Amino acid sequence: DTTVTVQPAVLGFTAVPKSLADVVSVPEGYAVTVLYRLGDPIASSVAAYANDGTDVNFAQRAGDHHDGMSYFGLAATGNTPDANSSSRGLLVMNHENITESYLHPNGPTNLANGPRPAAEAIKEIEAHGVSVIEVSRSTAGAWTYNQASALNRRITPNTPMSFSGPARGTPVLRTRQSPDGTTGRGTINNCANGTMPWHTYLTCEENWAGYFRRANGDVAARVAAGRGKENASLARYGIGPSSSAAGRLGNYLWSTATPTDASSTVFARWNANVVADAPTDGTGDFSHEPFQLGWVVEIDPFDPASTPRKRTALGRMNHEGCEIGRTIAGVKPAFYMGDDAQNEYLYKFVSATPWSAADANATNRLSIGDRYLDSGTLYVAKLNADGSGQWLPLVFGQNGLTASNATYPFADQADVLVNTRLAADVLGATRMDRPEWTAVNPATGEMYLTLTNNSSRTTTGTNAVDAANPRAYTDPKVDGRGPSTGNVNGHVIRLREAGDTSEATSFTWDIYAFGAGSDLDPTNINLSGLDATNDFSSPDGLWFGLNSNATGQGTPVMWIQTDDGSYTDVTNCMMLAAIPGRVGDGGTRSVTSTLNGTATVTTRIGKAPGATLRRFLVGPKQCEITGIHSTPDGRSVFVNIQHPGEGGSPTAISSSWPASQAGTVATPSRPRSATIVITKTDGGLIGL
Ligand code: FEO
Ligand code: CA
Ligand code: CA
Ligand code: CA
Repeated sequence: DTTVTVQPAVLGFTAVPKSLADVVSVPEGYAVTVLYRLGDPIASSVAAYANDGTDVNFAQRAGDHHDGMSYFGLAATGNTPDANSSSRGLLVMNHENITESYLHPNGPTNLANGPRPAAEAIKEIEAHGVSVIEVSRSTAGAWTYNQASALNRRITPNTPMSFSGPARGTPVLRTRQSPDGTTGRGTINNCANGTMPWHTYLTCEENWAGYFRRANGDVAARVAAGRGKENASLARYGIGPSSSAAGRLGNYLWSTATPTDASSTVFARWNANVVADAPTDGTGDFSHEPFQLGWVVEIDPFDPASTPRKRTALGRMNHEGCEIGRTIAGVKPAFYMGDDAQNEYLYKFVSATPWSAADANATNRLSIGDRYLDSGTLYVAKLNADGSGQWLPLVFGQNGLTASNATYPFADQADVLVNTRLAADVLGATRMDRPEWTAVNPATGEMYLTLTNNSSRTTTGTNAVDAANPRAYTDPKVDGRGPSTGNVNGHVIRLREAGDTSEATSFTWDIYAFGAGSDLDPTNINLSGLDATNDFSSPDGLWFGLNSNATGQGTPVMWIQTDDGSYTDVTNCMMLAAIPGRVGDGGTRSVTSTLNGTATVTTRIGKAPGATLRRFLVGPKQCEITGIHSTPDGRSVFVNIQHPGEGGSPTAISSSWPASQAGTVATPSRPRSATIVITKTDGGLIGL
C-alpha cells in the first residue's frame, strides 16, 4: 500500500555520549528498571539467586544471555491475550548462550578436555533456551515479574518439540530420540525472534553447530554406513573435519559428562558420531542430532502445556531471527530471515495462505501457525550492482535443485529445506557480511537488515567487495575483540519490494547507514557521515517501535543495537534511535578498498542520517545490547543486556552490573545478563 501518508516523527532526546562506565546510560528524563536477571526464580518454591556459583535448577530460573524478546499483552486476569494491554503481559525471551565462568563456584571444571561433572553440565544446558514470564505494571508505574505466575515457563534444550512442515518425518531427522523423525528435543543458541500477530513467539536456532562433538573419523564411518552424502551437509554447516587431531570437542564438552541414570540421553546426544553397530537409519544413535537443530521454532506462550513446533518450511541455517512483514488482508505475508555467518545469505519465506485478519484473534494459535508457516515458498536474495535484486525460489526440481545436481543431489523438498545453504549456493545468491536481524517499516513495508561485520571480506576472490558489501579495510584502532580487517564496522541495508507487496519476487535496495567511528576516513569508511552523537559499530538487533507520535501517525522509531565489534576500545555497546527515510533517497557512491590489493565498487547509499539517527543508550562493560520490544502504548520499552563482564572470572570480576546500576559497588559482584525496562519520567513515548 503506497498511499500511506508518512508524517515523520522527530527524535526528542539529547544523544547519550559514548561511555566505558559499568552502567546503562539513557538520556535525561528517562528511567531504567532492572526487571529479570540471570538466575531469578520463576516458581514460588525456588530460592532467590545466591549468585556465587552454588545455585541449581535453572529449569525454574532465568537463563543466561538474554537475547531476542517479545511482549504479549494479557487481559486483566487469566491467560487470554489482550493486544491493547500495556499494564499486564507475557514477556518471552531467548537465552542464547552462557558465561560459564560465573555459573560455578570456581568456574567450569575440566573444560579443556573433560570429563565434565554432570551437575555442571546440567546447569549449563538448562541455562539455555527460552523464558516466558508474567510481568505487570503497578498503578504507580513500577514493572515487576510475578514469580508465582502459573504462566511462567522455561523451555530448555531438553523440552519436547514436534516437527512440522515439509521436512517432518524426513529420514535425516530420525534419531534415537525420535525414531520416526517427527519429534525432537529442545532448542539451543536461540538468538533473535519473531512476534506473530496471532500471539505466538518465534525463536531462532543460531550457532547450534558448535555444541556437537564429532571425531574426524566420523567422515569415513558415514561413508562406510552408506551415508556419505551427509558429510557434505555437515561440513557446509560447520561440523566437518577439524584441524585438531581429536576432531571437534563441542562447546562445553557436555557429551563427556557421565549421567547418574545410565539410560539418560541428555549428555550423549551432543556426540554426533555414528555408532558402529547401530542401525544405519540413525535410530540407534545421535548421528542425526545436528539435523534436528538450525530451525525456527514457534511457541504459544499463553499455553504453558503446549508443545513448540519446529517450522521446517522456513529452512535450516544459523537462523538469526524471523520477523513478519506487514499483514494486509488477502495478501500472502512475508517472513524475513538472516543466516548469521560470514558470507551467508538473506532469506524470505512467503506463506501459501493470504492473510486473514480474523486469525489474529483465534484461540488455536499453533494451528494458525500451521496455516502461515508450514506451506509457502522459501527464497534467497540476489542483490545486483545496479540496485535491483531478485528473490530466488528454493524449490525442489527447479533451477538445478534436482537429483542430478553434481555437487549435492537433492532428493525432495525436505532435502532442500534441511540443506538450505547448499541449495542457495546452487542458485547463486549474494554472499553477505553476516546477516543478523531484519525489521520491516510498518509505514512503508521496506525491510531493513543488519550486516554486523565480516573479517573475511577482501578485495579479491569469492569474498571480494561488491555493491551490497562494498567495504574492506583495516581498523586504525584495533582493540582485539572485533575484526581488525575486512568489513570491520558493519552496515544496515534495506530493500523495497516491487509493487510494495510482500509477494514480490524482485526489489530495489540501498544501504541505509554504514557503521564507523566518526573520526574515520569519510571517503571510504565513514560513508554515512556519522558524528559523535551517532557513530556506532557492528549493528545487530533491529526493531521498529510500536508507536510513532502522540497521534499514532508517522514512521515509528527504528532501534539499532550493537554487538561487541571493533569499537569497544572507545565505547561499550549501545542502542540508537532512527527515523529512517526511504530506499533510493540518496544516490550512488564510489568506494575504494585497499585490503590485499585495490578494488573500487559503486554502491547505493541512502541520504546521510544526520540528526535522524541518535545514540539513546550505552550499556555496561563487555555487554552486548540485544533484544527489544515494548508495550503497545510505546511507553515502556524492554531491552536485554547480554553477557556483561563476559571476559572476567570469579577471581577477576570484570563488571558488577546490574548491581552497579544503583551506583558504585563496595565489593565486586558477579555480573548477570538481565532485562531492563525503560520509561520516561513524564510517562511519554520512548524516544520521541
Ligand atoms: Fe546471536 Fe548473530 O547473533
Ligand atoms: Ca545477534
Ligand atoms: Ca552478533
Ligand atoms: Ca552475543
